[in-house]
Formats: sequence, structure tokens, C-alpha cells
Amino acid sequence: MAKKAPDPHPMRPAGGFPLFADGLPAPGAPEEVSRAPRLRLDGDALADIDADVSAAVGRLLDDLLGQRVERAAALDPVFGHDVAERVAAFTRKGGKRMRARFVWWALRACGGGLREAESALRVGAALELIQTCALVHDDVMDGSRMRRGRPVLHADVAAQYAGAVAPEPGRRFGEAAAILAGDLALAWADDTVAAIEVAPDTARRVRDLWSTMRTEMVAGQYLDIQGQVTSSVSLARAIRAACLKSALYSVERPLALGAALAGADAARTAALCSAGRCVGIAFQLRDDLTDVFGDPLRTGKPTGGDIRAGKPTYLTAVARARAEATADRRALAVLRRSLGRADLCDGRLAEVRDVLVTTGARDIVEAKIDRLVAQGMRHLDSAALEQHGRRRLRDLLHAAAGTTPGSPPGPSGADDGTPVAALLAVGAEGGVR
Ligand code: IPE
Ligand code: MG
Ligand code: MG
Ligand code: MG
Repeated sequence: MAKKAPDPHPMRPAGGFPLFADGLPAPGAPEEVSRAPRLRLDGDALADIDADVSAAVGRLLDDLLGQRVERAAALDPVFGHDVAERVAAFTRKGGKRMRARFVWWALRACGGGLREAESALRVGAALELIQTCALVHDDVMDGSRMRRGRPVLHADVAAQYAGAVAPEPGRRFGEAAAILAGDLALAWADDTVAAIEVAPDTARRVRDLWSTMRTEMVAGQYLDIQGQVTSSVSLARAIRAACLKSALYSVERPLALGAALAGADAARTAALCSAGRCVGIAFQLRDDLTDVFGDPLRTGKPTGGDIRAGKPTYLTAVARARAEATADRRALAVLRRSLGRADLCDGRLAEVRDVLVTTGARDIVEAKIDRLVAQGMRHLDSAALEQHGRRRLRDLLHAAAGTTPGSPPGPSGADDGTPVAALLAVGAEGGVR
């Protein structure tokens, strides 16, 4: 009988490697995430979702996040508590589910229904998770303190450890934890999209849109902070950053995803994308106005953050351009000494607000929002869409831009006159300012 070779792992028991002493699972055992449990959607489900899309997405998110938090806690209870639970709580309490509603109503407007409902809800839930990633990271990059009326995630983690860790390492630790929390939200979002079950052609379109959208948002966020440190004053760049960092992932791509799931043709898809691009930019311009003029009780974040950070918004770029054009030295001096001053007092902030009004910048941005929305509505009306879905999209688009359905666009002369298409064309920078 041949002599048995010596066992290279003499400690190995007959059944294979043991679990580690402290109960960690054997490395390499993957979780079953590629096949999410199917929802049970019957004949009434469509009417239920139509009646309350946010609630339907909320229910799906509840299930999905519950499972994820459970697995995270099993992996490690500290990680589960500190990171996964925060990601879940942030996403559960999420805002208006605007992106998920865009997916849903684009699907319905393009003739999609029960067959595509589950994938549409899953893609909507994934967009909510992308939004968690975007905002948690954004608050670190922008040095923000409040979000949705609560301390930002990185401050919340730092506060948890305030008794045990000195302030500066604690602050840095909070930011590092928020980077990981955002990464985790992005990973969960990607998993959720990867698990949808649709025809191969549709899956390919969804995958392409999804991956393009993620990179666009990162590019936009980079332009935003790069413009901040280089004190960019370009109007074209401000619009470009607004488009990349916000319009695409918030409006245009969600509409395109809904259209793709419905199997919409090129003409409908293009019309929805154009509408989404216009209104998406208006959405960010509204956000910029709200940052300066909004009521913190309604926005859940303090006013003036963009001014104190020196954000290169379209609003401040217009104010500067107007002040230069009219040789308004007082306005230029106020902008020069205030933008990017983290310690700006409320009195000085009020001065900036005054300059944004007296230079006409606030009115110009309002007019631009109106024109963008009007243009977006024309694109929406040009498409062959189901009537009910079109009406819902109309209302949603108006809500995103903070405009009222039926109100006429502002006086066109008050705009800066640059056509939207030109602002978005690659290389438009030089021609505008
Ligand atoms: C954030 O833009 C865009 C993304 C999160 C990708 P802002 O920085 O203007 O958003 P708020 O004002 O902090 O919400
Ligand atoms: Mg921000
Ligand atoms: Mg930002
Ligand atoms: Mg903002």
C-alpha cells in the first residue's frame, strides 16, 4: 500500500477548515445577493403603486435594507451598528423619492406596467441608495453640518465617539467613516440593479445607463470642488457642473431608465432625456437659490453654505458678471471679500444676498429656471406618451424645479441669453465668458 503524503494542514479536521475561534465565517463563502427574493405583485399591485410610488419604493427599501443590515451585523456588530445602520436609516428617512418616481412615471408614460413593475421599483430603490452615497460624500466634501434637519452622518459618527476620541482625530474618523458609509450605499445600489431580471437587451441598456450615470455624477462633483478651489467664475462651467453633478442622476437618467425598462423607442427616450436635462439643470439652479435665500426650517440645512464655501454656482457667477458689466464696485467688493469665507457672519451674508438681488442675479436665475422648465415641457409634450403618465411627469418635473404648472415662463430678456444647448456642448467654455 502506497505511503500517504503528510497532510500540509495537520490541524485541519476531517470536514475542512474550521471556523475561526471567534466565530467568523470561513473566508470565501459569498452571500446570496445576486438573486433578490421576488416581490409578489398581483393584479391590484399596479393601481397601488400608481397611487403611492414613494410608499411602494419605501416598502421595498425596508426589506432590502433590513436584510443588508442583518448581514452587516452578522459580519461584525460594530460595523453593523456604526455604518450599515446609519446607511439604512439615512435611506429610509430619505427625502421625496423623486428619482424613483421619475423612473416609475417614465415607465408608465412609455406604456410599461405590471410586467416591468418590480424592476422599476428596484431601480428606483437603487437610485435612492445612490442618493445616499452622493449626499453622505457631498456633506464631507462641502464641510456641511446639517442635512434633512439632522447632523450630517460624519458629524453623527464623530459625536458617538466624542467621549473616547480627541476632537481632531474624532473629526477625521467621522469623515473616514462617512466615506465608507457612502461606499457601502453605492455597493448596495449596484447590487440592487445587478439583481433585476429583465430581457438581455433591456439589461444591457439599464447597465449602460447606470454605469454612465455614476461616472457623470463623480465628474460633476469633481468640477464643483475644483471650481471652488480655483475660484471659477465661468457661467458655462457652472451650468456644466450643475448638469453633471445633479441634472443627470437626478432627472435625466432616471427618466431614461424608466423608458429603457418599458422598452421605449428612440424618439420617446430622446424627448424624455431632453426634458430631463432641462428640468434637471433647473433643479440644481433652484437648489443654489434655496441655499442662499431658503428657510432652514424647510430645507433642513443652514443658509449660506455655498457662499461660505465659495461654491462656483451659476448664481454667484451671474452676480459677478453683472457687477463687472455695470462697473458696480461695491457689489464686486462684497463678493470678493465674502465668497469662500468660512467664518462669514450673518450680517455679511445678508450683504451678499443684497448683492445677488441688486445685480439682478436672483431674477436672472429665476428666469432661467422658468425658461428651462418651459423648454422641458415642450420636449415632454412632443413625445408620444400615455396621457396619465405624461401628466404625472409634468407635475413631478415642476415640483423638482420649484415651479408652478401653468405659469408662463419669465421675461426672456432677463436671462443671460446663452442658449442651453450651447452651454452644454463640450468646449462651450470659451464662447460664453
Ligand atoms: C450635491 O450638490 C450634488 C450631489 C450630491 C451629487 P449640492 O452640494 O449643491 O447639494 P446640497 O445643497 O448639499 O444638498
Ligand atoms: Mg452640498
Ligand atoms: Mg456639493
Ligand atoms: Mg446645494
